Amino acid sequence: MTIQWFPGHMAKAKREVTEKLKLIDIVFELVDARIPISSRNPLIDEIVANKPRIMLLNKADMADPDVTKQWIDFFAAQQIEALAIDSQSGAGVKQIVEVAKEKLRPKFEKMLAKGIKRPRAMRALIVGIPNVGKSTLINRLAGKHIAKTGDTPGVTKAQQWIKVGKELELLDTPGILWPKFEDEEVGLKLATTGAIKDTILNLQDVAVYALRFLAIYYPDRLKERYVLSHIPEDIVQLFDEIGKKRGCLAAGGVVDYDKVAELVLRDIRTEKLGRLSFDRP
Ligand code: G4P
Repeated sequence: MTIQWFPGHMAKAKREVTEKLKLIDIVFELVDARIPISSRNPLIDEIVANKPRIMLLNKADMADPDVTKQWIDFFAAQQIEALAIDSQSGAGVKQIVEVAKEKLRPKFEKMLAKGIKRPRAMRALIVGIPNVGKSTLINRLAGKHIAKTGDTPGVTKAQQWIKVGKELELLDTPGILWPKFEDEEVGLKLATTGAIKDTILNLQDVAVYALRFLAIYYPDRLKERYVLSHIPEDIVQLFDEIGKKRGCLAAGGVVDYDKVAELVLRDIRTEKLGRLSFDRP
């Protein structure tokens, strides 16, 4: 879904998340494991402030596992607990409740000490930018299909708690926040991974960015996928070679650069080049 984030929308989204924070004990910050920094909201630390938080590196099934490991260590060094998960298959999702319990143990022990014999379930809110997998994770945790509300801040409905076992309750509407658009590279990474629609950025610009990135970090996969004996330095030449090999041609047999761009981005997003990570610690 394409969303236009205007300053007014951002302020409203921030306000909505801040309101929801009052209801919960812990935040599950969802990011894309392939781009754990680029898929974060730039104000997240300020917005979440003092709430306990777990960072969930979602779509870990599509990310480079070695890089994901590095990210988990990187965040640990900043006292942020991060878990690699795949909300689609459910891999890693069970850990979330265990880690949340551990994080909230001091709070619940205090409640017990105050004489509250049966502490209530932990209450959690999922926050993240559009398309990061918030609804998929809610459905996975809920064990059933919960209708998705529009990705537009301000679309409200009565909030409900979804029970996840006995120990966790999840707010059924996630907090939707905007990514860091003002950074050009962030925009290119969001577009490369398909987090933002292809109509927003120029397709060829995105593919140029992606191919240059692959040439540096994953040269062998690039060579293998497009049967290249070497990777030409000149990006136009690289487009030409891929285009000719894969038949992305326009009338008269000239290479159609839009078709090449589409092909490369589709290949990246459907893992034809394997599991890739575009942010690096
Ligand atoms: P949102 O609520 O945060 O906006 O995201 P949503 O759950 O709708 O997920 C966006 C897309 O990401 C969905 O694909 C969903 O299936 C996919 N997705 C979510 N979590 C994971 C994961 O852990 N691994 C993988 N591989 N995919 C995941 P979709 O509905 O098919 O949308 P699209 O493919 O047409 O963009």
